[in-house]
Amino acid sequence: MNTADDLILWGPELMTGIGVIDEQHRVLVDMCNEANKLMQGHVDPEDVKRLVRDLMSYAMYHFEVEEELAIDEGYGESHPVDNELHREQHRNFASTVAALQQELATGKLVKREYLLGFLNSWLINHIQVTDKKMAVAILEKN
Ligand SMILES: [Fe+2]
Repeated sequence: MNTADDLILWGPELMTGIGVIDEQHRVLVDMCNEANKLMQGHVDPEDVKRLVRDLMSYAMYHFEVEEELAIDEGYGESHPVDNELHREQHRNFASTVAALQQELATGKLVKREYLLGFLNSWLINHIQVTDKKMAVAILEKN
């Protein structure tokens, strides 16, 4: 359920039409919304670390599911450029979040605006453009 103070509203424009992917995207959106709530007011650095770690591990799992689906569906053969871009965006997300984790580990504070701004724009752009492109290709083929 969307609530008024959600950072990202879940709706049809975020759906790819592939059930398993949409369910996992919904989890990621919920995690970002939780992060948004958690980072309002006083922020415990340990909470931020845990949140980023959970997000990273779920995102990695989700990327694997998508990339395996792409392999099963021959997306790399039918759309090599889009497939490479898709994988590259996953890797870029992972390296940005890993860098963030490094900073958190050394005791640096991460600004709420930076973390949420990055998550929000990355997720929305990735889902609406890159994941959707793959989903359209897969759904058309089947
Ligand atoms: Fe993706």
